[in-house]
Amino acid sequence: MEKIIVLGATGNIGTAVLKNLQNKNVEVFGGVRSERDFKKVQQFNAKPVLVNFTDQDSLNQALKGKQRIFLVTPLMQNPEFITQLVINSAIENNVKHFVRSTALGADVDGQIQMARWAGKSEELIKASGINYTFVRPNNFLQNFINFHSQTIKEHSGFYLPNGAAKLGMVDINDIAEVISIALTSESHYNQAYNLSGLALTNNEYANIISEVTNKKVSYIDVPEDKARESMLSNGMPVWMVNAMMELNYIMKQGWTAEYSEDFKKVTGREYTSAKTFFESNKNYFI
Ligand SMILES: NC(=O)c1ccc[n+]([C@@H]2O[C@H](COP(=O)([O-])OP(=O)(O)OC[C@H]3O[C@@H](n4cnc5c(N)ncnc54)[C@H](OP(=O)(O)O)[C@@H]3O)[C@@H](O)[C@H]2O)c1
Repeated sequence: MEKIIVLGATGNIGTAVLKNLQNKNVEVFGGVRSERDFKKVQQFNAKPVLVNFTDQDSLNQALKGKQRIFLVTPLMQNPEFITQLVINSAIENNVKHFVRSTALGADVDGQIQMARWAGKSEELIKASGINYTFVRPNNFLQNFINFHSQTIKEHSGFYLPNGAAKLGMVDINDIAEVISIALTSESHYNQAYNLSGLALTNNEYANIISEVTNKKVSYIDVPEDKARESMLSNGMPVWMVNAMMELNYIMKQGWTAEYSEDFKKVTGREYTSAKTFFESNKNYFI
């Protein structure tokens, strides 16, 4: 049976990937930083492996005997540093397939920092000669849970600087489905998949949340300088605020609204709709 290791296994995407892989005919390992997190991967029948992906020796040990790897890094500066360490260990261990979650718009010459970071990781993997699959997600629908559920619960609203633009949003479970399909087949070698999700305006998202929760929820369009101030006063580092504000700028221009067929090509079905997502998760917003 093939051995797959998921790096970033305790995070949003990694957890969904483990969940998705548990019924496939593969042996799955979940990379965790601490023994405290063993249970988080064992609940999906994955075997925990201690790994620190900033440490080459630790990666070399973790990748021993694995045929395929999946890597997602948190939002960080210069993630290509981690990508290169994982490539080194993958070569050392004859790994045959590297699946990397990056971001929609990944491009070394991209207009925003997040696109360039994602593009650099992709370039390094391509140059390594290892079979790759890049999965490039748009903004996650789960951002509504992770970042806006509290204000929706307490103030019946969410605050974003996106104007009236349409914004593509994708369910993390859709992303994980594509990753799991790629990890268990050879037909997705050397492909990149743009997972755009379906695009609505924030007012339309607010209307759906209102409908499923049975209470009026509003989108408050925040001026860019206020959004920046608020992130800084919440303790977000300056590099992260700059990267987020660049992303917010292109979102406001409607650049993240373009539909990609890639999800349908890989899975044969349509993206999970915002309506379905909010219906399944309405308890977070009540
Ligand atoms: N949010 C969005 O809408 C969106 C959209 C498109 C793309 N993205 C991109 O998606 C990525 C984030 O994905 P996510 O939300 O799944 O990430 P996440 O929830 O932050 O998870 C990051 C994972 O990396 C692990 N990790 C961090 N440092 C580590 C280290 N030194 N050694 C081993 N493991 C380590 C974390 O483990 P611990 O549990 O130990 O911390 C966790 O499992 C970012 O690159 C972001 O730019 C996000």
